[in-house]
Order: sequence, then C-alpha cells, then structure tokens
Amino acid sequence: MKIAILGAMVEEITPLLSFFGNHHKVSYAGNDYYEAHYKGIDLVIAYSKIGKVNAALTASALLMHFGCEKLIFSGVAGAVSPELKIGDLVIASSLCQHDVDITAFGHPFGFIPESKHFIPSDERLNGVAKGVAQSKGIALKEGIIATGDQFIADSLKKEWIRKTFNADALEMEGASVAVVCDTLGVPFCVLRAISDAADMEAGFSFDEFLVSSAKVSAEFVIGMLDRL
Ligand code: ADE
Repeated sequence: MKIAILGAMVEEITPLLSFFGNHHKVSYAGNDYYEAHYKGIDLVIAYSKIGKVNAALTASALLMHFGCEKLIFSGVAGAVSPELKIGDLVIASSLCQHDVDITAFGHPFGFIPESKHFIPSDERLNGVAKGVAQSKGIALKEGIIATGDQFIADSLKKEWIRKTFNADALEMEGASVAVVCDTLGVPFCVLRAISDAADMEAGFSFDEFLVSSAKVSAEFVIGMLDRL
C-alpha cells in the first residue's frame, strides 16, 4: 500500500519527517517528495506550498507520478465553529471552495458547473480517524471545511463563510486536494488542528500556534497509519 501524506507548509510535515527519520528525497515538478516506509506501508510525504493551485499540483503529482493509492492531508486551520479552540482537531466530512463566485450566472457561492459543490471525503479513512480519536480519548470534530486562496482574519468574513457553507473550519488547500482525489477516484481525508479563530487576531495566533498545532495533526496521522 502506498499512502501520500500532504501538508501545505514545511512546518506541517516536519514532525512527520522527524518521526519517520530514514527518508529519501525525490525532487519532481518544483517540489520535494520524501519517500519513507512504516510498518509495511510505503509513504510519500510532501508540502505543496500555500494555496489551492499549489496543493492541486502536488496532490496530482502524488497520485499520478508517485502512484499513491490514498491521500491524507495534515495541517492547521482557522476555526469557524465557536466549539473549536486552538489545538482542537477537525476532520472534513466534505469540503467546498468559499472563494468561488459565479453568482452573476445564478449559481450559488462555491459552485462550479459540472463539479461537486461539496466534495465528500472517504468514509473509511474518516472512520479510521474516529477510531484513533476514540482509542486515545482525543476530541475529533467532523465537519465541513471551506477552502479559499485567502488568509481569513476578519470576523465578518468568517461569519459569512459559516452561514453560506455551514463550515466548521477554513483553510487554503483542502478542497483543491479533494477535487483532485475525487476526480481520480483516490480515497482521501483532510485532518486539521486549529491554529487561530480567523478573526482580527488570526495572524498573531497563526504565528504562535502553527508549529504546535501542526504537530498535533501530524501525530494524529501517525496514529492513523497503525490502523490502515
Ligand atoms: N489556515 C489556518 N488559519 C487560517 C486562516 N485564518 N485563514 C486561512 N487559512 C488558514
């Protein structure tokens, strides 16, 4: 079995590379990919750089060039649900693109013709995540993740995203990875730990908690590998 673990920023994969230790770097299409082995699983770990285009490119390479059969995204997110606090884990039930706007043609926000408005993630992988959470007594919220090429640091914008998409968390890559995996028929899940509340303080909070929250998410993913 060959599994991709994708992050957006180097901080999101550093805990994984430290844990797997003995890995082999392959450079391809403008990114570095780290091949490792863990308990009989072949892993390819990479960070895409920020945003939907970079994440879609890296996800495509992981699936079509490296031949990964499942993809797990690990990283940090801004909280939309007031239930979610710094360091809390959220797994996407489905993902949407909050910055897509062709409402001028009568479409709802986030909708692209001939595409899914909300892309569901893989129930089996989400089930594995829930199993890890239960066995370790970790709270894991399942909910909608909204993705866009914007760092949200504005309570009004956050509230708009909550109302428009019923989102629980937001970030800048998940839905584009979902489009790639769904189109290619590859099971995926998106796991995120909260780094900020997407409000006026979000920039400071992100800087303060990026490393610690990224570690929470990465360690959880390592727990998932034991159950695949
Ligand atoms: N990732 C983590 N926090 C975020 C925010 N506030 N906006 C967009 N992406 C994020």
